[in-house]
Amino acid sequence: GDDTFKFYADGEWKTSTSGKTVNIINPSTLKPVFKVQACTQDEVNKCVDSAKAAQKIWAKTPLWKRAETLHRFAAILREHSVSIAGCLVKEIAKCQKDSVTEVVRSCDLISYTAEEGIRILAQGKFLVSDSFPGNERNKYCLESKIPLGVILAIPPFNYPVNLAVSKIAPALITGNAVILKPPTQGAVAGLHLIHCLHLAGFPKGLVSAITGKGSEIGDLLTMHPGINCISFTGGDTGISISKKAGMIPLQMELGGKDACIVLEDADLDLAASNIVKGGYSYSGQRCTAVKVVCVMESVADTLVSAVNEKVKKLSVGMPEKNCDITPVVSESSANFIQGLVEDAKEKGATFHQEWKREGNLIWPLLIDHVRPDMRIAWEEPFGPVLPVIRIKTIEEGIHHCNANNFALQGCIFTRDINKAIMISDAMESGTIQINGAPARGPDHFPFQGLRDSGIGSQGIINSINIMCKVKSTVINLP
Ligand code: G3P
Repeated sequence: GDDTFKFYADGEWKTSTSGKTVNIINPSTLKPVFKVQACTQDEVNKCVDSAKAAQKIWAKTPLWKRAETLHRFAAILREHSVSIAGCLVKEIAKCQKDSVTEVVRSCDLISYTAEEGIRILAQGKFLVSDSFPGNERNKYCLESKIPLGVILAIPPFNYPVNLAVSKIAPALITGNAVILKPPTQGAVAGLHLIHCLHLAGFPKGLVSAITGKGSEIGDLLTMHPGINCISFTGGDTGISISKKAGMIPLQMELGGKDACIVLEDADLDLAASNIVKGGYSYSGQRCTAVKVVCVMESVADTLVSAVNEKVKKLSVGMPEKNCDITPVVSESSANFIQGLVEDAKEKGATFHQEWKREGNLIWPLLIDHVRPDMRIAWEEPFGPVLPVIRIKTIEEGIHHCNANNFALQGCIFTRDINKAIMISDAMESGTIQINGAPARGPDHFPFQGLRDSGIGSQGIINSINIMCKVKSTVINLP
């Protein structure tokens, strides 16, 4: 039927020989909305083979032509932004305007990557030998960057378009092939994205999009000897992928528990706005969301009431209506969030709003007086519920940030820049924001997690570099 989508291999749209499909459930209605192919292992193997062959041709395509094709892809994607946003609304319940923003941001990311790639890859190095003891000036070394081969791109449900292109674009500009495994929720948006890529005219087989069950094709993809790099964004699965993957570069971003430390001298209104934006945008389903507030006791009441005032103004409802808080992605996710909330309630946390849930729609909560024995102090709800820990010293806040397994970002609110820098240095997280909410963008900034939050750095520049290897040629003179 109209709601069943094919997968993309060898430059064509195909129905899987498995005869099976996977249902995509609309988080707002809890009803199936689309179906995608449940690809077989054989189909995966064929995609890897054609990717390998196409990559050889693509790597020899002049860099300016590769950039030109990416710019064309960006332009076509821009024309499709409203219809792709429509898929995001239905598949992941992201509100209409944020869905459009996600696609437009992706177009900009592709163009920027094409331009940055031209600059980075145009440059190599030239070294001479006589700087190292015992050598004459009889060896010249030419160093340049060459592609890795086939990149496996696995984006998560929360940015099925943007986190797909943030992997695909750097892979392609550097001369690699790509196998995309879209998240099930968001798969159709991902396939629509691939349709735009198809129209841009890349060589057949260079990019494919495989859909299906992780249990059936996940291990095969991630352990495939034909895969030369994995770029993954998502949850715990990333840790097991890292253990199984072979000797290949990994780019993994696996969630966070970003702490927001608020000092006594902070602009509390600025802090409150950023806490609300950082904590509740897309219903808290961002790895860079503010996931715990650590506020100095003397200003805690003022901050909490400022946050509560703003939480009150958040609209709660359906993504089509552009509500601030929309249904979380799945029933199991909603149940998990509820579990964390119940645990905090049982252990005596203060609730500033009533717990309310209808289906996957969860009303925003600010949970105060959270203590370290509560699960929500450490775990990532990925929902619109935000814990507040009242601290007596700055060290307590730093400790809470560093004792966590996650270490993606963090933020500090203070008017004292010296203190801010010292606290930033003490916080063992990938990125610390001073007087602003955690965020990945602008997309050319470095983006990386420490500890269980991941490995490898992303952002346009770092992604281009990780998707190449160094090759050198040495000229030996007589
Ligand atoms: O959760 C995915 C992560 O990459 C967040 O991105 O743009 O919401 O900070 P952003």
